[in-house]
Amino acid sequence: MLAKSLLCLVAIGLSLAPKSHGQNQNQNQTQDQASSMGSTSSTVTYHGGRLLTKKNGINVYVIWYGAFSVEDRTAIIDFFDSFDKKKVNKEPSVFRWWKAIGSYKDKAKISVSGTVKLAKQNGDVYSLGKSIKRQEIGELVMNKIKAKKLPVDGNGIYLVFTATDVTVENFCRSSCGFHDSIEIEKIKVVYAHVGDSSDQCPGFCAWPYAIPSFGPPGQKALLAPNGVGADGLIINIATIIAGAATNPFKDGYFQGDALAPLEAVTACPGIFGAGAFPGNPGNLIVDKATNASFNVYGSNDKKFLLPAIWDLKSSTCKAVAASPAT
Ligand SMILES: *[C@@H]1O[C@H](CO)[C@@H](O)[C@H](O)[C@H]1NC(C)=O
Repeated sequence: MLAKSLLCLVAIGLSLAPKSHGQNQNQNQTQDQASSMGSTSSTVTYHGGRLLTKKNGINVYVIWYGAFSVEDRTAIIDFFDSFDKKKVNKEPSVFRWWKAIGSYKDKAKISVSGTVKLAKQNGDVYSLGKSIKRQEIGELVMNKIKAKKLPVDGNGIYLVFTATDVTVENFCRSSCGFHDSIEIEKIKVVYAHVGDSSDQCPGFCAWPYAIPSFGPPGQKALLAPNGVGADGLIINIATIIAGAATNPFKDGYFQGDALAPLEAVTACPGIFGAGAFPGNPGNLIVDKATNASFNVYGSNDKKFLLPAIWDLKSSTCKAVAASPAT
């Protein structure tokens, strides 16, 4: 029991909505977002532990928990496909975005894996109901592996995506997703949760494609290229895989308290383009045909919005550079 509650305590939360939204969140939330934008007084540092560095890439195992539309699934699958350089012919690309993660190296100076790929998918029709505790996310992954539906992979990330009608402990309250690890067959594996926030808290977890109702007046939501649900998921998936790859076991790269760390992307809350400030995501590309805002291109002509990554060399948050409008 103690071990289980500890596991829960050390789960790493993430939240993306910028501070300026004036949200009345709990203590944890304030802590998560303690880094003020543009501040260089502190930095993301290495704590000596193992990173996800396998040369052939990080395998992602997806569990779709609940009902997802074909459009949402397709957008997310295309996002993972976009890590393959050959499948994207326009810059800035998802591939280029991930390149910044390559500057994160372990003790042996080996970089975090240069690519991510969707290795296997699995569906789940609410086997744990519609209200889930964080530790049950880990148990779900464990059960899928025990049932041989997914392999054991120490360089993988097991991602549980929950549908709009599923509530998960802390999700939409203090976080938009989390990653943690669990030991299976003597191998430590990384698992994570990201939920579709479109019905529960889009202004918090799908910003800037939705605006919190209690935010300052005058802010307008941007148009999402793939829909608020899918694009909100993708922003948080990007945040989680960057954090999980560079701090998989809580002794990798982070800033601040190990129990409420700021990682590669969470150290840069609400920053998506140059010139970002609280309440403003920064310069983005606007698709002239649809008016949708984004900052990278992906496979199948998809467009995505990916968050800035903490740059270890300059100790600043770096977003992929926006090129002129398409
Ligand atoms: C895009 O925005 C412009 C300016 O607000 C508007 O005139 C145009 O109709 C919009 N296009 C689409 C496809 O929504």
